[in-house]
Amino acid sequence: MSPSALEPTAGSAPATGTGLGVAPQPMMTVRNVERHFEGMRAVDGVSIDILPGRITGLIGPNGAGKSTLLAVLAGTLPASGGTVTFDGTDITEWPAWRRARHGMIRTFQLPSEFAELTVLENLLVAAPNHRGESLRGALLGRRYWIADERREVARARELLARFSLSAKESEYAGSLSGGQKRLIEIMRALMLQPRLLLLDEPMSGVHPSIIGEIARYLEGLRDGGLTILIVEHELHMIERLCNPVIVMAQGKVIGQGSMIELRRQREIVDAYLVG
Ligand SMILES: Nc1ncnc2c1ncn2[C@@H]1O[C@H](COP(=O)(O)OP(=O)(O)OP(=O)(O)O)[C@@H](O)[C@H]1O
Ligand SMILES: [Mg+2]
Repeated sequence: MSPSALEPTAGSAPATGTGLGVAPQPMMTVRNVERHFEGMRAVDGVSIDILPGRITGLIGPNGAGKSTLLAVLAGTLPASGGTVTFDGTDITEWPAWRRARHGMIRTFQLPSEFAELTVLENLLVAAPNHRGESLRGALLGRRYWIADERREVARARELLARFSLSAKESEYAGSLSGGQKRLIEIMRALMLQPRLLLLDEPMSGVHPSIIGEIARYLEGLRDGGLTILIVEHELHMIERLCNPVIVMAQGKVIGQGSMIELRRQREIVDAYLVG
């Protein structure tokens, strides 16, 4: 494949190369996005599309700019340049809380559970605004926020059942295994009922026997209609879950397509897939 086919042209729609026929309208479009840290271009002109109902993989060597790009898409870091649109609306200037309200939720590379809260409490503190905390909610009275809380507890228990963690509901989150903490992180994001879930290495620090289980849950979420962008170093899981897969190196997209297509490209294999 020629080098021009590996790098998207500035401003043009990137080829998805998914081999799945006509691609649907992207949920998110990212054009020429940059993020600089004191002159260093951590993200250097990235243009990608996130297609609805798919799990898109984002891979690349350490320091490639994957987490930085995820942070820019989630709004936790402002972009230094370029545009991000979501459902056709330019959201480049939107802060993270506004994006979250519109369904874009991220998880972090390092687990961030509250160790001294129970598993159920960890999910409840992630729940969206409680009406009881607003002036109007407070004036309307207890029955409103009790109803909210009941709904949230029910939703949290539904998630715990779905992720086979109901038995752990009352245990401190700090006592869980690495894999269970990762699941808590994903469930906390799901409490916010996202439409686009941005996952930063959800399988890192997880016992190999649990990795397949996490993959199965992610497939279930995808099959339920959730759109996911996942940064991950576990390439066999990326291969199982993701189409398309985007490869970054030194802040740039150096290729995208299915894992099978990427394995045929020498530049990408040399840059990342081996050694
Ligand atoms: N807050 C920051 N301040 C300065 N430099 C940063 C900051 N965050 C990231 N960088 C730098 O930006 C580059 C990209 O980092 P980033 O964390 O996005 O890489 P990554 O692809 O997620 O790597 P890894 O696979 O190791 O998680 C690195 O050189 C990193 O040192
Ligand atoms: Mg990272």
